[in-house]
Amino acid sequence: MKTAKLLNVKTFFAVLAAVSTVSNGVSAGDVDLSAAIVAPTGETTIRLYEVKYAPTPDFLYIVDFFLDEETLRFELNGVTAVEPSNYEGADVVRGGLLYDNWWKINGESEPSENYARYPDTSSQSGSGTWRCKECHGWDYKGNEGAYEIGSSHYTDIEGLYQVKNRPMAYIYGAIVDHNIPSLSEPDIWDLTKFLKEGTVDMNKYIVFSGAQSKSATGDADNGRTLYENSGGCLKCHGADGNKIAAVSVGAIANSNPWETLHKIRFGNSGTKMPAMISKGLSFQEQLDILTYAQTLPPIETEAH
Ligand code: HEC
Ligand code: HEC
Repeated sequence: MKTAKLLNVKTFFAVLAAVSTVSNGVSAGDVDLSAAIVAPTGETTIRLYEVKYAPTPDFLYIVDFFLDEETLRFELNGVTAVEPSNYEGADVVRGGLLYDNWWKINGESEPSENYARYPDTSSQSGSGTWRCKECHGWDYKGNEGAYEIGSSHYTDIEGLYQVKNRPMAYIYGAIVDHNIPSLSEPDIWDLTKFLKEGTVDMNKYIVFSGAQSKSATGDADNGRTLYENSGGCLKCHGADGNKIAAVSVGAIANSNPWETLHKIRFGNSGTKMPAMISKGLSFQEQLDILTYAQTLPPIETEAH
């Protein structure tokens, strides 16, 4: 759906009323809907993103409406002000670590109950149900990726790879909607930046189905050089990848290449394992490391 043209006059005045609840003295000419996007957020709710208001140029507004089923009119349901300048300073690597496991990164307490949004019909329970990766996948493909139907992590929830094409305020608003009180505003900005700039289409680099399924398609020889030198993997994991007893790099790189690639790029939440993005390695080099890791001798351990 697209922009201002779709908005009828009534909606325009509803937006005006909405923005005026956050700033006094609003006038019609001050509201700028030229960049606004309308999208449904539920069966009877719609949301307008990127509404601008001339007197407060530092903010974008998200305006929510619900359909009153008796009158069949959209009624105002709330306004959120978003300050896009926060995006500039946001940290994509920290966002990737929060995506894996936010409480290990922001120091908030680990949840003890299931997350209310986690489907009753799915198999996981406890704090894990609060991790972004649990519903949206290590490959960011949700129900169409490795957590597809048949997986013990299946939730039938969509992936997030495509969301990078949406405006930043859309992503920010969608994370706010998860109602996870332990996520601070800076946390949400870091996650927004990660989803906008940090994700890759893993199916392009890791074979998804067929006989070669799960094979990484980089250059293993170059990966070995990086593993042993600038990547620093050797120092902690040893030449065979089995020096840390709890983790067999060869086993995990083969059983869960998506998790391994995410962790090579962003680090491993709650450990000293560094992000190759922070070390300045290119994406191709990160993929090469994964490709080499798949050649290391496996010892069976649990993937996390
Ligand atoms: C318990 C499951 C669950 C967890 C955990 C979860 N989400 Fe979601 N998320 C959803 C559902 C459900 C939707 C709505 C999409 C759908 O209906 O499939 C959604 C949608 C989104 C969207 C909007 C996608 C779009 O295309 O409109 C974003 C962005 C998002 N989630 C980010 C996150 C982030 C970041 C985290 C971690 C802080 C997270 N989610 C954790 C269930 C979850
Ligand atoms: C500073 C030490 C250090 C460096 C350098 C390091 N790692 Fe790790 N890595 C760890 C620790 C610690 C763990 C977590 C061990 C545990 O779960 O008990 C880990 C976990 C892993 C895992 C398992 C992830 C999981 O949760 O199942 C893989 C795979 C892995 N590392 C690969 C690599 C690769 C490849 C490199 C180089 C790009 C690398 N590591 C660099 C310390 C390091």
